[in-house]
Amino acid sequence: MTTTVLTTFTSLMTAATVLAWTNGHPFPPHSTGLAFLGVSLAVFGLMAYFHLESQSDEKGVSLFRKVPSAFYLAMLLLFFLWTGLWASTRVAVNYHPIDMLVFEAQRYHQQYLNQTSLSTGLAEAVNHYKERYGQNPPPGFDHWYRYATERNSTMIDDFDSIHRDLEPFYSLEPKVIRDRTWEMSANQWNDVAGVSIRNGQVTVAPNIVPTHKWMPDGLADMIGKFAQWLPDMDLAFNLNDECRVSVPYEDIEGMRGRSLGHRDEPQNSFSSDRASQWKAISEDQIPNSPLQEISWQQTFHRYGNVGCPPNSPARTTRHWDSSSFCTQCAYPHSLGAFLSNWTLAADICHQPDLADLHGLYLSPASFKGTHQLYPLFSQSKAHGFNDILYPSAWNYLEKAKYAPSNERPDMAFAEKDDTIFWRGATSEGVSQGRGQWRAMTRQRFIHLANNPNNSAPAQPLLLPTGKSKRYSYWSLVSSKLTKLFKTDIHVVDNIVRCAGPDCENQAKEFAPLVPPSDFQDHWKYKYLLDLDGAGFSGRFLPFLQSRSLPFKAALFREWWDDRITPWAHFVPLDLRGHGFWATLAYFQGIDGLIDGSTEVKIDPHVQVAERIADSGKDWAEQVLRKDDMEIYMFRLLLEWGRLTDDKRDELGFEMK
Ligand SMILES: *[C@@H]1O[C@H](CO)[C@@H](O)[C@H](O)[C@H]1NC(C)=O
Ligand SMILES: *[C@@H]1O[C@H](CO)[C@@H](O)[C@H](O)[C@H]1NC(C)=O
Ligand SMILES: *[C@@H]1O[C@H](CO)[C@@H](O)[C@H](O)[C@H]1NC(C)=O
Repeated sequence: MTTTVLTTFTSLMTAATVLAWTNGHPFPPHSTGLAFLGVSLAVFGLMAYFHLESQSDEKGVSLFRKVPSAFYLAMLLLFFLWTGLWASTRVAVNYHPIDMLVFEAQRYHQQYLNQTSLSTGLAEAVNHYKERYGQNPPPGFDHWYRYATERNSTMIDDFDSIHRDLEPFYSLEPKVIRDRTWEMSANQWNDVAGVSIRNGQVTVAPNIVPTHKWMPDGLADMIGKFAQWLPDMDLAFNLNDECRVSVPYEDIEGMRGRSLGHRDEPQNSFSSDRASQWKAISEDQIPNSPLQEISWQQTFHRYGNVGCPPNSPARTTRHWDSSSFCTQCAYPHSLGAFLSNWTLAADICHQPDLADLHGLYLSPASFKGTHQLYPLFSQSKAHGFNDILYPSAWNYLEKAKYAPSNERPDMAFAEKDDTIFWRGATSEGVSQGRGQWRAMTRQRFIHLANNPNNSAPAQPLLLPTGKSKRYSYWSLVSSKLTKLFKTDIHVVDNIVRCAGPDCENQAKEFAPLVPPSDFQDHWKYKYLLDLDGAGFSGRFLPFLQSRSLPFKAALFREWWDDRITPWAHFVPLDLRGHGFWATLAYFQGIDGLIDGSTEVKIDPHVQVAERIADSGKDWAEQVLRKDDMEIYMFRLLLEWGRLTDDKRDELGFEMK
């Protein structure tokens, strides 16, 4: 009898556990708790079952008979202790999660640093390369090594981002890559710039629209520094901000995991007949393009999510109600309200709600894309795109430069204004009359910070309250939040990329629009906000170089992403914006009444802020110099040279 009851109970609990795990409760922390409770009870039930069983039946599991009852008592106690502890930590914590994130980030950065420049000579660099990437380094690797070490490069061994980007291209024949390069750059409609390297000279194709000419010109400038060691080839650079190449998961998975393997005596020079293998680009109009244009349209379900596994939420679910917060979407990369994993946050596959939360997905200004693996070099990309990242000419030419002066100095951190500062345009996407602007990242953050018409939603704050001063989450209405913190987050001049009523509506919503300010005025403020526009950030590198602390919310990732560690070099924010106030509260502090009667005091964490700002600056001066952009590009193009060579299987560098 007892046995039957216990067995039923056990199977019920197990079923509940499995359900809680597989179905996904709307609040994952609760479902984890439920699952944990279920497992504990199930284990306990099973133990009790076997115990009874072994007593009633001689042939039963005699092992359990040997276990003293004290053991079961101990299990029971442990169980209550565990759940009790778990329940109490859910409600309130003694430490602030940001303290932990900052601590973890320093360790993570140290680990990264430990493996990025192990080599102390060319021979070691070659060995490390072979170990990491399963093939010989490309021909000319010795020139690259000398170039990098002469410029004191901290980065010698870790160029994983290059290999991630290039890996699928090993599945294409060199000739196919060359032909596709031509298809991209020959047709002016594609918005692609062709750049040619012949005999160590760099030239820009003649068919580029004048407004965009600065970009290939800047690239020619950068590549010219080391072109003497590059083979003859053509390159196709994306002139638009938006990334373009999105190969479906079903195709791209089979293209990964390839390498050329090792050779004992590889040929350390590129093929000699390369120049004639690239079709010439002329000013003539070409009628065909492999690209499909869907500018001003929704792109998430046509391009954004196709790189995700078919059973991932991004492919299987549609988060229809964009006014409700998608907890499951944020949970995997969050610690409470704070962003805890920047890499995972970039992975859109668990985030179907982003379809309606970003300009790239809602209504990009220019989107000419393809589902086939075309070789296109871009300045930034969202997860799932197969564009090849490279250091932007914008940064190389220092179009937005960190250049404090006597009139606009970059003062010591403590002397800076406590405010978080942002200036920019509504340029993330085009709001052509259907109100898409309301969901775009920039507009949502501006709305959050200024709370016009008292219409911003309530947001979480993590506050030390009660006698114990332990932290717990409070939900505060925005009218209170805007009074507690110092922000200066405004649109400059006039509303752009809009049509119909969306221009006027935004102008009303974001009033007062402010006049443009000098870029060097940024350094007056302790906290600088960086929000995604239509593509790569033109200002993040100068922000890092400054003594101010950058906060960054971004879907796009750039060439430097592996090098820079969130919480060690900058403060990451979730695109949804829900952690904005809670993160700011940690740094700016609070001293006052939060809901008319509850007194709250959080000391501002100015020293933590200053430490992150300083580490970011030091590190940027070490690994994000113009030299580092050249070193990255040089290595990328040596790899690309080999990849496009008919004899690529035989090519490589080996120590004599
Ligand atoms: C990094 O390397 C140093 C020296 O080899 C070692 O002491 C340290 O523990 C390493 N740190 C991490 C986080 O691996
Ligand atoms: C590299 O470091 C050495 C020693 O610190 C210094 O003298 C030299 O100027 C540096 N070179 C470059 C290009 O930064
Ligand atoms: C972030 O998540 C990824 C994927 O789950 C994991 O490999 C990585 O170690 C995590 N990074 C940090 C800093 O926790």
